[in-house]
Amino acid sequence: MRESQRSRIGVFDSGVGGLTVLRELYRQLPKESILYFGDTARLPYGNRTSQEIVQFVREILTWMQEEQVKMVIMACNTSSALALDVVRQEFDFPILGVILPGARAAVRLGRKIGVIATPATVASNAYRDAIHEIDSQAQVWQVACPEFVPLIEQNRIYDPYTKQIARDYLQPLLEVQIDTLVFGCTHYQHLTPILREILPASIHLVDPASYVVKAARKELEVLGLSNNQMSIATHFTVSGCPHSFAELSQQWLGFCPSVEQIHLPPVPISPVSLEILD
Ligand code: DGL
Repeated sequence: MRESQRSRIGVFDSGVGGLTVLRELYRQLPKESILYFGDTARLPYGNRTSQEIVQFVREILTWMQEEQVKMVIMACNTSSALALDVVRQEFDFPILGVILPGARAAVRLGRKIGVIATPATVASNAYRDAIHEIDSQAQVWQVACPEFVPLIEQNRIYDPYTKQIARDYLQPLLEVQIDTLVFGCTHYQHLTPILREILPASIHLVDPASYVVKAARKELEVLGLSNNQMSIATHFTVSGCPHSFAELSQQWLGFCPSVEQIHLPPVPISPVSLEILD
């Protein structure tokens, strides 16, 4: 087997949201080894500008390139919405985002589609555009949920306030009687127990995490990059406090990860990319 097949897949998010993608990787691709990065020192990403997100993503991808990953999954909708198209051609490994796999799955399941996401993802209209490109007749309503990520990162999922704010966010979608709800932020799957209590059981929940991993499996096969041997333990890294991340993560991982704090390489701001964004 070639060295490149044994290389890790890079997975990143602003924090613990990407663990929902990581869990899917463990389930669907248990032989793959993973390098996980959470940019916890700079979260939430959802209130950042496009320029900031593109810059952060460039730094992360430059570091992952140095770590010789064979593929990167952006386990972050905000990065996928604002940076994927800009950075994709700058790196020579495949980079997958969550928006397209999520949009495809939503269109297969429903016609009246609600999307809950960060303010930046909603403002980009990435989901609405991706869904309409597949099915121009589908109806799409997007709701920004700025409080969810901080509440999840503060481990306040079962706080009554979280349920109240979730009711407020979902109310407009319930009023228009959506049949499908897309988790347009990887953090939100951690709220499933709360959201399920508020939503009628008939509403399909779409978690793009499982679909992006399916897409990754296909891409690895096509490129001849699948690993056939045993995986090695996930290398967890963060930009912020490793202990807080380890403590918060164990409820979703089922083990307490050993986490390393890293410093991303500085990357100059490219005027060409800023032109693209304007
Ligand atoms: N989990 C990320 C997303 O899917 C980022 C959330 C944030 O940091 O605001 O959008």
